[in-house]
Amino acid sequence: MKILITGAAGFIGFNLAKYLLKKNYDVYGIDNFDDYYSIPLKKKRLSILKKDKKFIFKDLDIVNKKKLELYFDSINIDVIVNLAAQAGVRYSLENPTKYIDVNVLGFINLLKVAKKNKIKKFLYASSSSVYGESTNFPLKEKEKLNPKNIYAISKKLNEELAEMHQQICNIKFIGLRFFTIFGEWGRPDMFMLKLFKAHLTKDVFYLNNYGNHLRDFTYVGDAVESVEKLIKKKFNKHEVFNICSNNPINIYDVVKNFKKKFNLKIKLVEMHKADILKTHGCNKKLKKCIKKLNYSDFYKKLYQTFDWYKKNKIHKL
Ligand SMILES: NC(=O)c1ccc[n+]([C@@H]2O[C@H](COP(=O)([O-])OP(=O)(O)OC[C@H]3O[C@@H](n4cnc5c(N)ncnc54)[C@H](O)[C@@H]3O)[C@@H](O)[C@H]2O)c1
Repeated sequence: MKILITGAAGFIGFNLAKYLLKKNYDVYGIDNFDDYYSIPLKKKRLSILKKDKKFIFKDLDIVNKKKLELYFDSINIDVIVNLAAQAGVRYSLENPTKYIDVNVLGFINLLKVAKKNKIKKFLYASSSSVYGESTNFPLKEKEKLNPKNIYAISKKLNEELAEMHQQICNIKFIGLRFFTIFGEWGRPDMFMLKLFKAHLTKDVFYLNNYGNHLRDFTYVGDAVESVEKLIKKKFNKHEVFNICSNNPINIYDVVKNFKKKFNLKIKLVEMHKADILKTHGCNKKLKKCIKKLNYSDFYKKLYQTFDWYKKNKIHKL
């Protein structure tokens, strides 16, 4: 099976590509090396993927409709996994238009080429942030959506566009509501890598909302395993899945656990306007569909990720 991953030099894209290559899929990757965070980190991820002959990469921007069409004329793929996006809720207050350009217009470009090229299946990244500030935990997929920032709105719109398109073409769409994914080759703008960096560089670690957030941390290995199973599974209609471990963890506890072992200068700060207090997804629908029963132990994977971070000197990239 030939699979195209957009955002292949990104955190989840890289991990998914690596996992699929190991399982002998032909993997096509595109990415535009957006400068939202370290380009050397993205290049490093890509250099690992390029060691495998079954990985074919193209530097391409999904917003560039003409080039995207030409690219699709040159390949013949079965499945698209769209992970290219402007990620991050906090940055959405600084640069809102970028979320419309990449996450909405780029997404529409992909829908058009997918339809024209008769792609069979189209999986796309949504986000836990579509739920907004909810209280009905654990959040089920059918819960009312209440996006709180333009990032979350762009993801909700992706789900609505997919729903609309399934009625006018034969593509099977699958929405992936990722919940705080963490692990090796992670994102430097996210909590865990910021924590590791602050320790290694002896900088201050800013603990938002005094650590009173809860996040349903989900190990990237579990996430990509789930995505691969969803790629293989047959669907009759557009489906959306929470990709989560159903295990909310208090950020303050994580920091406390880390600080017991390693030096850390902490500054407590108030809640960021774009943040939500708690994420906790129900993963029953996913578990039932793909028969995945076990999820990784959070603290084991946290320290495994820290070992990877130190070994690869990620704070210097
Ligand atoms: N990591 C998480 O916890 C999480 C949670 C919820 C949703 N998501 C979503 O999952 C997807 C992947 O997230 P990630 O954490 O790997 O983010 P990431 O930023 O590491 O990966 C996204 C990749 O897309 C690329 N990209 C950006 N704009 C592009 C464009 N116009 N054309 C081509 N490539 C472009 C970037 O260069 C980057 O490599 C995103 O859609 C994100 O919104 C992630």
